Amino acid sequence: MAKLVQQPLVMECTDWPDAESYRLLDSGGGRKYEAFGPYAFIRPEPQALWQPRLSDWPASGEFVPGSDEDGGGRWNLDPAVPDDGWELEWNEIRFTALPTPFRHLQFFPDMAPVWDWMREQLDGREDAETLNMFGYTGLGTLALSKHGRVTHVDASKKSVAQARENAALSGMEDRPIRWLVDDAAKFAAREVRRERRYDGIILDPPKFGRGPKNETWRLEEGLSGLIGDCAKLLDEKSAFLFLTVYAVRMSAIALGGLLEELLRHLPGTIELGDLAVREQGAGGRLLPTAIFARWSNNG
Ligand SMILES: C[S@@+](CC[C@H](N)C(=O)[O-])C[C@H]1O[C@@H](n2cnc3c(N)ncnc32)[C@H](O)[C@@H]1O
Repeated sequence: MAKLVQQPLVMECTDWPDAESYRLLDSGGGRKYEAFGPYAFIRPEPQALWQPRLSDWPASGEFVPGSDEDGGGRWNLDPAVPDDGWELEWNEIRFTALPTPFRHLQFFPDMAPVWDWMREQLDGREDAETLNMFGYTGLGTLALSKHGRVTHVDASKKSVAQARENAALSGMEDRPIRWLVDDAAKFAAREVRRERRYDGIILDPPKFGRGPKNETWRLEEGLSGLIGDCAKLLDEKSAFLFLTVYAVRMSAIALGGLLEELLRHLPGTIELGDLAVREQGAGGRLLPTAIFARWSNNG
């Protein structure tokens, strides 16, 4: 039976391997100030409750939120910001950064310690079968592809196309990756019926989403069924499951409790906590971004 460690952990995004690609420069006053390669941006960040450390935030753009906390708003961008994005890198992966109407830049920098952790779980392997659900623009998928075959599932045709472009940019278009435009919950249920198994699964579900056939995804309603199906795709030889949740009124303790219940037929360890990004420089503060629960099994 998988053992739950109740003491929360922090998975901290400090420096990217190429520090120029991503840095949290400062935060405070409900906003954050970040460098994405040569461009710095200001974005809303309700958890930055403190005061900024720097007196000035010279930026190439700022996202100005709408009145609705959950969405809306627009970018004010300097004309120097390229309309078709620019290239950044994380280890051997190259990808395009571009401000999107959803506040982010086509990738989530705070996931970097998760990509490292998944790779540690598969260390020395090149034959692993992994699954990335809600895979978006594919950085997690490309990170996993170092260790074997990856199935990448996302409901958005556009995101999958962008993920494939990132694979090409990284010179990884020949890697054994199945790129699927599909509804995550339906796909997982189908894989259970096919009696498939995976060595590792990562899921980064949004609070609300839609499948390609307009299927509705609501985290609070769908999460336990989806994790239940994922649990059936793992066995005692599998290495990991990683679940992140953000922008939801929920604690990591709840995610840990869910994994403890649904993975009880497996050996290994369940841990939980926060993902957070460290501001650059001495005394840099830690800015939380998401909660997680993870299962690992090295046996
Ligand atoms: C926040 S992103 C995931 C970020 C990604 N893991 C990363 O680190 O770059 C959420 C993704 O879920 C996808 N999505 C939303 N509803 C879905 C559904 N029902 N089935 C599959 N994917 C869905 C969206 O298209 C979006 O790409």
